[in-house]
Amino acid sequence: MNKILAFAGSNHSASINQQLVQYTATLVQGVEVELLDIRKWDIPIYSIDFDPDITPDKVKYLIDLIGQYDGFIISVPEHNGSTPAFFKNIIDWLSRRSKKVFNGKRVLLMSTSPGKQGGVNNRKHLEHLLPYLGANITATFSLPSFYEYMKRTCKF
Ligand SMILES: Cc1cc2nc3c(=O)[nH]c(=O)nc-3n(C[C@H](O)[C@H](O)[C@H](O)COP(=O)(O)O)c2cc1C
Repeated sequence: MNKILAFAGSNHSASINQQLVQYTATLVQGVEVELLDIRKWDIPIYSIDFDPDITPDKVKYLIDLIGQYDGFIISVPEHNGSTPAFFKNIIDWLSRRSKKVFNGKRVLLMSTSPGKQGGVNNRKHLEHLLPYLGANITATFSLPSFYEYMKRTCKF
């Protein structure tokens, strides 16, 4: 059976991207979906000075975990039209410790925001960036106006 890992690239305690991931996981049928919550992960800002000897435990853990799954549901917020520092830092660590961490495996890449564009600018940016980490992005979705649309649909 295929196994899917689902997580949001946010450190916001009430993350709406985490809520979107949770909701999406309930819609998936016929495969095992595991929810990962990285909101409280405290990973040092990557520096070349850490190379090659120092790797945070959470980075090692995430690389190992990604290796155990066949596909991924990832939703990432947008900050100032770009990738939030929290998630970009994780991308930078992954890129330095595992050349193609996603190893060609399939990714549903999503975003949401309270605004009218739903974080689509950053999502499009990540559509270019994540394949460098081996992600095969097979589907994308951005949900605008989260609080109008999502709150009506479900509660977590
Ligand atoms: C520093 C900062 C910059 C933001 N920039 C954007 C933006 O460019 N586009 C957007 O749609 N929302 C922007 N927002 C609003 C976020 O979409 C909103 O905070 C959302 O809750 C983030 O997702 P999360 O709750 O999953 O972390 C920004 C929020 C912050 C704090």
